[in-house]
Amino acid sequence: MKIRVLDGDESKEVDIYSEEGLSLVARLWERVSFHNRLVYEPTWLGIPIIQLSSDIVMMQELLWKVRPDVVIETGVAHGGSLMLSASILELLGNGKVIGVDIDIRKPNEAAIRKHPLSKRIELIQGSSTSEDTVRVVQNGVKKSDKVLVILDSNHSYGHVLKELEIYSRFVSRGSYMVVMDGIQEMLTSNPTGKKEWKDDNPMRAIRDFLRGRSGWEVDRTYNRLKTTYCPDGFLKKL
Ligand SMILES: C[S@@+](CC[C@H](N)C(=O)[O-])C[C@H]1O[C@@H](n2cnc3c(N)ncnc32)[C@H](O)[C@@H]1O
Repeated sequence: MKIRVLDGDESKEVDIYSEEGLSLVARLWERVSFHNRLVYEPTWLGIPIIQLSSDIVMMQELLWKVRPDVVIETGVAHGGSLMLSASILELLGNGKVIGVDIDIRKPNEAAIRKHPLSKRIELIQGSSTSEDTVRVVQNGVKKSDKVLVILDSNHSYGHVLKELEIYSRFVSRGSYMVVMDGIQEMLTSNPTGKKEWKDDNPMRAIRDFLRGRSGWEVDRTYNRLKTTYCPDGFLKKL
């Protein structure tokens, strides 16, 4: 089976069973699912999680492999992603999740606090890049802790770059910093995308963070399901 791709003035046929076809269908799915806001559909143990299903599966795999003592996540929203981490830590029998958000809405906070996994979750309200917030995060982490970081707050280039610089210090060797929503760069022409995302996106921040910096590598193992909202977003600290 082939599909004909029309992109501006260009047109080409691609066999969907080829490598190119697989990649193309994945890119199409990302675009169409973004347009239809499917990322807002899933829940994790009853709490909405704003992630693509394939990324949820990959996060589960990563958490099980790394077995962190502490997961720091910037960007809480409803708290589903915190629950995902907390549920894996609960099965591992160890660890806590520190969730940072500039605006933790009361109903979301209440749902998190009354959840059976709330004992593994600490919430901090404040901008992820403010000195005060970082100090509180720091106080929640011991030197000996194995730490994994997930950045999913404000997705502007400047904010993500600042977060990368601040939170990279917390990540333990062999663990990861996961940067969500690099997909923005590819969605500028989507009907619900924004032109300014071309330069203002997490992907550019990842590239600038890694440029000239040793000790980190992009681990594409966790993008192998092809559809992802965090392409090149799994950064391993070597
Ligand atoms: C995409 S949502 C997070 C989704 C969540 N991680 C999940 O997977 O369900 C982004 C969140 O980032 C928060 N946010 C925006 N700017 C922020 C900042 N400067 N510092 C911390 N959180 C911020 C917003 O309030 C919002 O709740």
